[in-house]
Amino acid sequence: VDKYCVFGNPIAHSKSPDIHAAFAAATEQRLTYEKRLAPLDGFAQAVHAFIAEGGKGANVTVPFKLEAYRLAGALTVRAQAAGAVNTLLFDEYGITGDNTDGAGLVADITVNAGVPIAGKRVLLLGAGGAARGAVLPILEHRPAALAIANRTVATAEALVQQFAPLGGEGVVSASGFDGVDGSFDIVINATSASLQADLPPVSPSVFHQGTLALDMMYGKEPTVFMRFAASHGASVRDGLGMLVEQAAEAFHGWRGVRPRTAEVLANLR
Ligand code: ATR
Repeated sequence: VDKYCVFGNPIAHSKSPDIHAAFAAATEQRLTYEKRLAPLDGFAQAVHAFIAEGGKGANVTVPFKLEAYRLAGALTVRAQAAGAVNTLLFDEYGITGDNTDGAGLVADITVNAGVPIAGKRVLLLGAGGAARGAVLPILEHRPAALAIANRTVATAEALVQQFAPLGGEGVVSASGFDGVDGSFDIVINATSASLQADLPPVSPSVFHQGTLALDMMYGKEPTVFMRFAASHGASVRDGLGMLVEQAAEAFHGWRGVRPRTAEVLANLR
């Protein structure tokens, strides 16, 4: 039986084992998928130990995505663009790093929420690792505009520099939260502000009736960002759909089979 796992610290509350077990059952793939707590200073050792036990692949979550990027001997284009790795594949060629987070986000928006990105105005809040991983997958869907707003404007400007030559020329722009112009069809909160029950200070005028507002975070209750967006006419989603979709994308990379996600997502809720 092929072995997979997710590395993180902390890891106790990870939903990934349940998600992958459901995918495996639905697609009749024989595999195991467990949680592994890696010590903060022992990620690489934990990965090598897992490979020595016959591990075929792994997911990587907080705080190891940058270390996984450095550990991988080969990277997919989207992992290179993201500068971070959430999915590892172990085979005779060594350790390959992929990043399925952005593809998961885009699948949740376009398929689960049924909102096309093509031709739309998209606002991305944040310019850290989570935001960076979203840019290329969003640009691949040809939005009319992708505005990136961040507390530290220079970090958002660096993303524009990076992605302008990759289909973002004239499409992607950067500003601080108070410099955001106009309203948007899709607003994505990729800041970690929700973790501190904080709100990126954007004007409510970024929303119009029917804007899709998505917070990459999720919890038992809607985040402050989701409440703010909903009170200004947006329809809101948390990050649970993105979580399930990034898992499906990783599962497909490992097994060559694409699992259906709707029922798994419904069961998680
Ligand atoms: P992640 O991997 O979750 O993206 P990160 O790379 O540390 O984590 O990035 C965190 C992002 O959330 C950054 O865009 C950060 O803004 P800065 O670049 O200015 O640091 C943003 N962020 C964190 N706390 C925030 C807050 N309270 N309000 C607004 N933005 C915040």
